[in-house]
Amino acid sequence: MSSAEHQPSPLDSPAPHAGSPCPGPDVVTRLRAAGCVFAEDEAELLAAEACSPAELTALVDRRVAGLPLEQVLGWAEFCGLRIALEPGVFVPRRRTEFLVRRAVALAPPRPVAVDLCCGSGAVGAALGALLPVAELHAADVDPAAVRCARRNLPAGTVHHGDLFAALPTALRGRIDLLAANVPYVPTGDVPLLPPEARIHEPLVALDGGADGLAVLRRVAAAAPRWLAPGGRLLVETTERQAPSAVAAFTTAGLRPEVTTCENLGATVITGTRPDGWSARSRP
Ligand SMILES: C[S@@+](CC[C@H](N)C(=O)[O-])C[C@H]1O[C@@H](n2cnc3c(N)ncnc32)[C@H](O)[C@@H]1O
Repeated sequence: MSSAEHQPSPLDSPAPHAGSPCPGPDVVTRLRAAGCVFAEDEAELLAAEACSPAELTALVDRRVAGLPLEQVLGWAEFCGLRIALEPGVFVPRRRTEFLVRRAVALAPPRPVAVDLCCGSGAVGAALGALLPVAELHAADVDPAAVRCARRNLPAGTVHHGDLFAALPTALRGRIDLLAANVPYVPTGDVPLLPPEARIHEPLVALDGGADGLAVLRRVAAAAPRWLAPGGRLLVETTERQAPSAVAAFTTAGLRPEVTTCENLGATVITGTRPDGWSARSRP
């Protein structure tokens, strides 16, 4: 068990509850025995969430049983924000902060922004915090994710449904930033994921079909009709998937660009709707 990829920093943790118990060495020992790489840090974080020794034991029990740390804590840190998280909802990954950075760098003044496949709404919340958005929408097919995103996006509108079918038609042709961190794990690789993801995150959040790009292709194909002229679609992929994702963007009539961040191990494909695009100019 390792939360190395999205380990919240104890520096970002809240002040402990007034009655927070001190995590004893037994807590650290249990976490370490269960395979937690950052057992001391996790013990501090769990203790800060607990109001009593009994509550701390219950939290440690859930972590030892294999739940992702963030689902046990009830929050994940993302772009310096505390994102509320419920069991069964995808844990936002640190590498996705690169997608947010790209979107912020490319944003026009007062953009209309959409977080499609929003999960907890972490990407939308970060965009809303970093940009003076004119409108903020988010959507997901999973009711648990939609519930969670509504908590994290009080100033946005969160819709429920399949990709663009969830969005109000009034958004057609008006979206400046369309962030879509779609599921992109190839079906055959899902069994190879760490148990935290495989067991405690929903399959619909992970499985991207045979080559991992099935949802991405659907999003790219429909995106030009929803983007404003010059508007941008941003997705995350692996480096290996990038050429196929670029091909999907080009086929859809989007101008693709690939950017990577070595530090975060992130690859983001940006697709710009050309000014002259129309449904008839589609290749
Ligand atoms: C990889 S997770 C990303 C969640 C969030 N954007 C993030 O970065 O933390 C993918 C999300 O896509 C959603 N999803 C999968 N297929 C979908 C579809 N057809 N329509 C809408 N949402 C979908 C899943 O429910 C999941 O919340």
